[in-house]
Amino acid sequence: MLATKVGGISFDCCVYNASGPKTNSIEALIKIGNTAAGAILSKSATLNAQDGNELPRFINKIDLGGNYCNGSMNSEGLPNQGIDYYINDEALSQIKKCNKPYIVSLSGLTLNDNLEMLKRIFNRPLDNINGIELNLACPNIVNKPVIAYDFDQLDEVLNEVSKLINSVKKKTPILGIKLAPYFDPSHFKKAIEIIIKYSVVKYIVTTNTIGNAMFIDAELECAAIAPRNGLGGLGGGYIKHTALANVYMLYKELVSNGRTDIDIVGVGGVHSGLDAFELILCGAKAAQLGTCHWTENGDCFKRVASELKQIMQNKGYNSIEDFRGKLKPYMKGSKQISKMSTTSNPKIQDGKSKSLLFIILPIILIIALIICPYISIDFAGLQNHYLLRIVKNN
Ligand code: DHB
Repeated sequence: MLATKVGGISFDCCVYNASGPKTNSIEALIKIGNTAAGAILSKSATLNAQDGNELPRFINKIDLGGNYCNGSMNSEGLPNQGIDYYINDEALSQIKKCNKPYIVSLSGLTLNDNLEMLKRIFNRPLDNINGIELNLACPNIVNKPVIAYDFDQLDEVLNEVSKLINSVKKKTPILGIKLAPYFDPSHFKKAIEIIIKYSVVKYIVTTNTIGNAMFIDAELECAAIAPRNGLGGLGGGYIKHTALANVYMLYKELVSNGRTDIDIVGVGGVHSGLDAFELILCGAKAAQLGTCHWTENGDCFKRVASELKQIMQNKGYNSIEDFRGKLKPYMKGSKQISKMSTTSNPKIQDGKSKSLLFIILPIILIIALIICPYISIDFAGLQNHYLLRIVKNN
């Protein structure tokens, strides 16, 4: 029911991990392999191992507006073990045992680093690496602007990557690219205009964190994280609606260019089956979990997948293709949908019904106190009435 294909790679389940939290080591990747996740995606690798930015460099479990969502912010600076670690024989043979597609995320510090990492991947036994997610949107590297925001650079990178892939004589892993969130309709258009020139790009992952956000410790009057003057990428519930819009707008652009052969994977604030459902309605073929995986551990894949399944069953859908990309424009009464989206979260439902009880119970008590004397008079009247009837009947 939740099976999908991303760029031609078959997934048993359309919910899987985002690159980032809990993806740095092979042990962590195998842990993902032993969950319900549909695929295993590595931490974004650089050419050489690096420690990343100074600590502390992330915050999570930040509550946004009560129970509604959890957010996170990180400025990790690509701590990772270097590309060779994620694609060596031992790693590949262990990951293969999990029987799930394995996708390697790359985030080179330069174009040459990206090309070198791709060459190293192409020299590996390729049946063990199903996909490559080329991350063009990491916002946390000092003095390295986000490639996805510089359209000339995006074009250049894709052109070079494309030339390299086309020069390889064997079948290479499926290429996806991870984009930054866009906020202007012209940018969705421009990004797609560039991407569709390169037939090597089989899918788009959207969206990376919203870069350069800030949290402040008001008590100490200081930034909440150490690197980059306190700036970091915002993730989790804060960005769900930006992610929905990015999936929707990019999907719409692909459709209007007749390029539905390029798939979209949605990421950003997916915490429930309903969040995944909404991303799929906007056009996504799969949903990645980042912050939620970070705060909830690997159980989140099973929970989100079964919530999504339940929603599909309730609506009579047998596969995600039954509703993917079929978001309708605004309709009268559509507030019902937002009601549904809040109550689908059991935690929120719990909280809601508890707060309703706290409101309703005192009201009932007050009403009872006011009408109590009248009730007793009525009781007396009733008693008399029935006594009279009993006497009469006798
Ligand atoms: C990092 C952050 C990202 O948003 C990303 O896509 C890759 C790496 C990081 O800071 O490590």
